[in-house]
Amino acid sequence: MKQPTTITTALFATCAILFAACSGGTNTSTNTGTSSTPNSATNAAATTSTSGAIPIGIAFAQTSNVALLGQEGVAGVKIAEKYFNDKGGVNGTPIKLVLQDAGGDEAGAINAFQSLINKDKVVGIVGPTLSQQAFSADPIAERAKVPVIGASNTAKGVPEIGDYVARVSAPVSTVAPLSVKAALKQNPNIKKVAVFFAQNDVFSKSETEIFQKTIKEQNLEIVTVQKFQTSDTDFQSQATNALNLKPDLIVISGLAADGGNLVRQLRELGYKGLIVAGNGLNTAKVFAVCQQACDGVIIAQAYSPEHPGEVNKDFRAAYVKQFNEEPPQFSGQAFAAVQVYVEALKALDKRSKISTMSISKLRTELNKQLLAGKYNTPLGEIAFTPVGEIIQKEFYVSQIKIDKDSKKAKFTLLK
Ligand code: ALA
Repeated sequence: MKQPTTITTALFATCAILFAACSGGTNTSTNTGTSSTPNSATNAAATTSTSGAIPIGIAFAQTSNVALLGQEGVAGVKIAEKYFNDKGGVNGTPIKLVLQDAGGDEAGAINAFQSLINKDKVVGIVGPTLSQQAFSADPIAERAKVPVIGASNTAKGVPEIGDYVARVSAPVSTVAPLSVKAALKQNPNIKKVAVFFAQNDVFSKSETEIFQKTIKEQNLEIVTVQKFQTSDTDFQSQATNALNLKPDLIVISGLAADGGNLVRQLRELGYKGLIVAGNGLNTAKVFAVCQQACDGVIIAQAYSPEHPGEVNKDFRAAYVKQFNEEPPQFSGQAFAAVQVYVEALKALDKRSKISTMSISKLRTELNKQLLAGKYNTPLGEIAFTPVGEIIQKEFYVSQIKIDKDSKKAKFTLLK
């Protein structure tokens, strides 16, 4: 994977000419955003940062409660950056991640996207963390014709936001039913189900629809549907209402902080049955919130650390070395999103030198290329439908197990 020197040289030259545009720091009149037919040095691309690397934007939540999920995404992309640069980057040119904190709400994601698109001049974006944010921020990238790969957005309709929006995070319709079926396998006597969901979060609403459909298809009775907000910390009234109806299974769609607190309070009120939680609780960070009460919670997975294959072995080893625990789903998906960009850029560059393209042309061509490719990622082999939905083969279910002695918790794959 060693690069021809000429490419590196050309990119350095391009960036030297466009130094100001690359850094976004001056009022240069060089237009790097609109040229579609580059034929001279001055309208060639600002495809590299001042360091000569190709900038890829990362818009995950690094602050707020949503950082419980977003930080796992950050861990995944950083491992990917090192991994692919060690292997020669994009035919010799390194990538460089540009991180903008998208926070936990729509405004944070919009600001991050605007900075990445207009100031950092990234070739594409990974993020945001929540589907709730994606429905506000992704249209900005769509209008600017900048590719977006969602790496944790699982609500229905995310890829359909626009032509430039794809995702590597499998949708609720594919993943959520698996955990209900796994719960029934553990306890075939389940009959009555209490459902909880965060009504101010589009992903949670989307997921509960799938959960409720699955529950009915399994001929189980939904005895109550309780609503809460992702900002809630006290669930006493909803939990008491539900437990009065003596459910055999509780199914929760929310995010990590609210969902974790709800699990804890259900156990404190004496609930002993199985709990299925959705994708918003799919993080080891939830252990800090629900502690011992997390034990036994069942969560479906779009990633397994045990997936065979070279890339996953390397990713898993790098993650374990750094964090001393198995990689979680959001990190695996974030790694895969960066991998898609790197491999699509490589394929594109082989056909037509990306160093000669305007940034707008590169973004458009990259979007077409990434949708066309097949990628052997830590998630297994993936590809995209024409609208940008992930095509993925393998899914899993795991259950939280807490070691009584060490008090350490982990996700254990159910076979
Ligand atoms: N899967 C969650 C969402 O889509 C994090 O918002």
